[in-house]
Amino acid sequence: MAFPKNFIWGVATSAYQIEGAVNEDGRGRSWWDEFCARPGAIQDKSDGSAACDHYHRYPEDIALMKQLGIKAYRFSVAWPRILPDGTGKIEWRGLDFYNRLVDGLLEAGITPYATLHHWDLPSALAAKGGWQTREIADWYADYSAIVARELGDRVHNWMTLNEPWCIAFLSHEIGEHAPGLHSRKMARQAAHHTLLAHGKSVQAIRASAGSAAKVGIALNFEPMMAVTKSKKDVAAAAQMNPLDQFFGWFATPILHGYYEPAVLEEAGADAPEIKAGDMALAAQKLDFIGANYYTVSRVKAGKAGPEVTKHPTNERTLMDWEVCPDGLYGLLMRLQKETRGQTPIYITENGNSFVDVVSADGRVHDERRVEYLRGHINAVQKAIADGANVGAYFVWSLLDNFEWARGYQQFFGLVKVDYATQKRIIKDSGYFYQKVIAGNGI
Ligand code: FCB
Repeated sequence: MAFPKNFIWGVATSAYQIEGAVNEDGRGRSWWDEFCARPGAIQDKSDGSAACDHYHRYPEDIALMKQLGIKAYRFSVAWPRILPDGTGKIEWRGLDFYNRLVDGLLEAGITPYATLHHWDLPSALAAKGGWQTREIADWYADYSAIVARELGDRVHNWMTLNEPWCIAFLSHEIGEHAPGLHSRKMARQAAHHTLLAHGKSVQAIRASAGSAAKVGIALNFEPMMAVTKSKKDVAAAAQMNPLDQFFGWFATPILHGYYEPAVLEEAGADAPEIKAGDMALAAQKLDFIGANYYTVSRVKAGKAGPEVTKHPTNERTLMDWEVCPDGLYGLLMRLQKETRGQTPIYITENGNSFVDVVSADGRVHDERRVEYLRGHINAVQKAIADGANVGAYFVWSLLDNFEWARGYQQFFGLVKVDYATQKRIIKDSGYFYQKVIAGNGI
């Protein structure tokens, strides 16, 4: 079965996870630089200072993509490279890096998809309150306008934020990501500010990048699914569903202009301050909606009500995430319903981490990653066959890279990176994906 003609097959990365070169060409500090220095924050005590050295090796990485037949590359722009202080003076050397990257991509026949922010907040702005302050929406709009103006003659596909759920909840309540806080109230206030920043960024990109610009966002999802097909587990999952933070705090306001009432009720006194006009700002009409999907969360009927649980038998990845292609199918069908088919859906990240071994033949036979991709690409195909308006699929990730709090101990790449030598080896999953692209399907 083939995919629609012109289906976009891509790979995704982010700046802090691959670039390295944190002290070069005038880059300012980001709160991830600070967070990595905090004892206990990163499992292997590492940081992104060298990462995959993509800042210098981008021509080699473009050549790898070209070899694999990749049609589209989703990368992120590092805010502290463009505006070292977060606002004010532009660092042209930082912008030039992205100019060279974009030119190299276009020369190789690869379409650039730029994410304006993938978590590396300038430290100068963190010191002024970061995502806790409403002003961040204006800082972000100014930054968005600069990048859109400078790259917009060649970059026509834009994502405002990557996974605002992680910016809000993983960073401010769960404490696993920079700045490592544990506050319910701060998480919900940050969530609201990400939506304001998103809305103003959409407007700024449209005003600055030219009429060809297509603008969206990359949201993450972890659908709640019943752990068995039993009536009581299915009912428990249905009961939990309105509390789904990924829809409730993000997709619902962005697509419909209001927070899911259940999440506001759950927030109680920790609900964010919402001013007149905020929700309309959040709900800018988008050219596409990006969905990052890795896994599901499972719900069972407990004694005192619905409970979160683990699936007893399904395979789990090195991240300890359940492998569940059905979750992706269900998510796409739900997004189709929520958007009434009006907004194309792009899968902006999908992939997973498994232990890789270099065999005697010098190759990486990563069968489990191949099977993961096969299962999920089949799920996308099925959703399209059932009417979902899916236009793109990006594998996370091109390269093994710095996996945030897990450091260099997770491996999501289609290409293995030996961090000591920076040598790249295309894994079997990379060759598998090459065939998928060439055949426009499996
Ligand atoms: C997503 C992030 C990405 C990477 C993958 C594994 O949440 O967007 O940077 O960490 O997970």
